[in-house]
Amino acid sequence: MRRSQILTLVGLGTLAGGIAAAVAVLLPWLPSPASREAGRIDFVFWFVTVICIVIFSIVAGALLYSVVKFRAAPDDDSDGPPTHGHTGLEIWWTLIPTLLVTAIGVVSAIVLAKDDRVGKNYLHVNVTAQQFAWSFTYPSGKNMTTGVLRVPVDKSLLLTFTSKDVIHSFWVPEWGQKQDTVPGIHPTLHITPDKVGRYPIICTELCGLGHATMRTWAIVMTQAAFDKWLKGQSAATSSPNTTVSGKAVFTNNGCGACHTLSAAGATAKVGPDLDKLPQWATQAKQPLEAFVQSSITDPNAYVQPGFPKNVMPLTFKSLPKAQLDALVQYLIQSSKKG
Ligand code: CUA
Repeated sequence: MRRSQILTLVGLGTLAGGIAAAVAVLLPWLPSPASREAGRIDFVFWFVTVICIVIFSIVAGALLYSVVKFRAAPDDDSDGPPTHGHTGLEIWWTLIPTLLVTAIGVVSAIVLAKDDRVGKNYLHVNVTAQQFAWSFTYPSGKNMTTGVLRVPVDKSLLLTFTSKDVIHSFWVPEWGQKQDTVPGIHPTLHITPDKVGRYPIICTELCGLGHATMRTWAIVMTQAAFDKWLKGQSAATSSPNTTVSGKAVFTNNGCGACHTLSAAGATAKVGPDLDKLPQWATQAKQPLEAFVQSSITDPNAYVQPGFPKNVMPLTFKSLPKAQLDALVQYLIQSSKKG
């Protein structure tokens, strides 16, 4: 009976341990890192986690063994033997945790120092947060501003944050770091993206009604593609004579994150369906072009029935005129087709 009880306990313990280990290891809890910093942070995470798993298994095993092995018989009312500690054991269980915690501290300090070290040759981007949109300004691109962050791969990226209203928080899960944007101060964040791709930028601080919609993309490109893009964009921004693609303005500013527009392959439903702009303009009793323009530059002046106020960002009134005009014409043309 006793033997079978022990076997049952050991069996249950092994099963529970196996399930817990499988859940920990097999499920993709963390996105795969796409920056050098995230790779190092993941290393520290697993370094600490493995230490914790080993220590927990030893403690839980010893506990389980003691519960079974040293349990009192039902009719045993006598006192246990007087025990006055065990010097050898106490030295070990002080020494081992001290070494482990010191190792965790040293590894973390090295990773923190490495992650903060900005390379000599870095790209500087100013990030502006406001209810409920992100915008990115490139000092090296004649202060050109976009709504989607484009950066070259394998190059130090230094982000400087400004908030125009409340506290937001910048987060690209694959880059492994978060940074709060606090009104009145300008915190920085250093990242070295090391995989070409498209990653979500998420506001991770509850900042108001449209918090959940405060999302855009970080696009990591090859250096050559980035240089070409930056040159083209800053030329289009500074020269009013260059033809600006309305579709590019739509995409760069992340309009598709909230709106449906068939011509741009956008299917989001946070804001009004832009395929039906002529219908909405009639409903608002406004001429189409004026309606589209004011909906972008002064979104709270008229809000589509059924949608809340103060969700559409107020930042788009600062779009350069050429970009705004191109966007308005593009929306009118696309919606008439749709
Ligand atoms: Cu900005 Cu949440």
